Amino acid sequence: MVRSSLWLYSFLIVLVGSLFAAWHALAQDIWDEAAAASVNKELNRADLIEKGRYLSVAADCKACHTAEGGSVYAGGRAMHVPLLGTLYSSNITSDIATGIGGWTLQEFERALREGIGKDGRNLYPAMPYVSYAKITDEDIKALYAYFLFGVAPVHERPPANKIPQLLSARWPLYFWNLLFTPNKPFEPNPQKSDAWNRGAYLVQGPAHCGECHTPRGLVFQAKAFDETKKGFLAGGPVLDGWEAYNITPDPIGGIGKWTAEQLTEYLQTGHVNRLAQAGGSMAEAIENSLANMHDSDIAAIVTYLQDIPPVRGRVRMPRQSLGNPATDVVILRGNPLSRDIDPRKKADGARLYLGFCATCHGVDGTGSKDGYYPSLIQNSTVGAKDDHNLRQAILEGISRTIDGEEKMMPGFADKMDEEQLKRLVDYLRAQFAVPPRQTREPNN
Ligand code: HEC
Ligand code: HEC
Ligand code: HEC
Repeated sequence: MVRSSLWLYSFLIVLVGSLFAAWHALAQDIWDEAAAASVNKELNRADLIEKGRYLSVAADCKACHTAEGGSVYAGGRAMHVPLLGTLYSSNITSDIATGIGGWTLQEFERALREGIGKDGRNLYPAMPYVSYAKITDEDIKALYAYFLFGVAPVHERPPANKIPQLLSARWPLYFWNLLFTPNKPFEPNPQKSDAWNRGAYLVQGPAHCGECHTPRGLVFQAKAFDETKKGFLAGGPVLDGWEAYNITPDPIGGIGKWTAEQLTEYLQTGHVNRLAQAGGSMAEAIENSLANMHDSDIAAIVTYLQDIPPVRGRVRMPRQSLGNPATDVVILRGNPLSRDIDPRKKADGARLYLGFCATCHGVDGTGSKDGYYPSLIQNSTVGAKDDHNLRQAILEGISRTIDGEEKMMPGFADKMDEEQLKRLVDYLRAQFAVPPRQTREPNN
């Protein structure tokens, strides 16, 4: 009798216990969902969504999360990651199955600032969470509101990454983050103006200029995250063939000689007569992002850039101050091209220039009078210490559309072989990348 009631008693305890546990889990779920729903209700506001939209432009989420010819934000853009392979960006539309429609604010925040996906896996730093770590709580909320309520769902699954099995483990990223990610939101410097602080925030955080413009270390970690550490924006590694120059205010190594007006014009249009044009990833950043930002934000960025510690590097002359008008092409001009296109001929570079470039950039290299076709003299890309961007501009061409107006230079990748490219580049550098009034023999 005693034994059987003991048994019944234990049975009841276990039964009640499990019922309670089940109820608790269910209630927790319902409560969590209710809490998330009420948070979401609070975030589904037109002003917040608009703020988030603007931030998404400043942060250029579109650039990486849209495949060529694909739906905006549906992901699938291929990105070549050094040492690893090819990575495809995620779908970040509000689709629940293939996008981030089912994500909570906390999950979104962790992906943006810590580089952790919904399922807890570490994201590759091709997603610039190292910079986005600086985005404030308020701005994260606005971005979340925009992506969840302002972006229509697109049901599309990006292709699987092409990374060798051996290298595809994500756990090393955990340690990489531990060592190299600052991971704290931006804190204003009370000694500086509001404009300076706004500029600092945009440059370091959402606009992620440092991802391209800051030098990297051995395992590809950024050497600085803000102006308090030397090297911030002092020139980045070569990515997809393009090099992002030193943009610290050093008058020789960086952009110290640019006026605030020139810097503003560059960031808004990508073109400053007799100084610089934007190609490659900078053209994209201007087209998608900077050209669509408020004037006051661009002014803030300029204020900040002109005040960070200057870094010189190993350059002796500002890259925008070099070059002489070419004269030899004028002499060659009357001769038929076929006569002496000879790889051993010294003037071959000049001939290539005359054949491929002079129609737009002028026989002497000074461009067109109105500057539409830029001068190659005193040109920051031609005068740069390394010829990466000059080669890329020739191979890929340039294309930027700002306010509906397209600037276009054709690419020449299929028109010349490596040997000809080398001769042309040598010629251009001997002519337009040497100190003024001191022409060297071309091709020596
Ligand atoms: C420079 C390129 C780049 C930019 C700019 C960028 N992303 Fe990403 N993002 C990626 C890549 C690549 C991945 C995938 C990383 C991986 O698979 O490890 C990713 C992953 C994500 C994820 C995780 C998705 C998932 O399913 O795990 C979210 C969320 C995200 N990005 C949101 C954003 C938002 C919001 C912005 C703008 C504020 C942004 N990204 C800007 C490249 C970028
Ligand atoms: C995705 C990479 C990338 C990002 C992000 C980026 N840049 Fe650039 N930037 C470049 C490249 C590449 C060039 C060289 C373009 C060329 O030679 O045509 C460049 C050139 C420049 C130049 C001209 C320098 C010169 O001497 O010609 C300035 C100024 C500049 N960037 C400022 C910025 C600022 C400010 C930001 C952030 C708001 C930024 N960039 C973000 C890649 C980037
Ligand atoms: C059809 C006209 C045209 C031809 C031909 C042409 N270019 Fe250009 N080039 C342009 C235009 C337009 C731009 C961009 C101007 C701008 O960005 O505002 C440009 C830009 C450049 C730049 C600046 C790139 C940068 O990233 O800063 C260089 C360097 C250059 N061209 C060199 C050459 C060379 C070398 C050749 C011959 C192989 C050549 N161009 C042929 C029209 C032309």
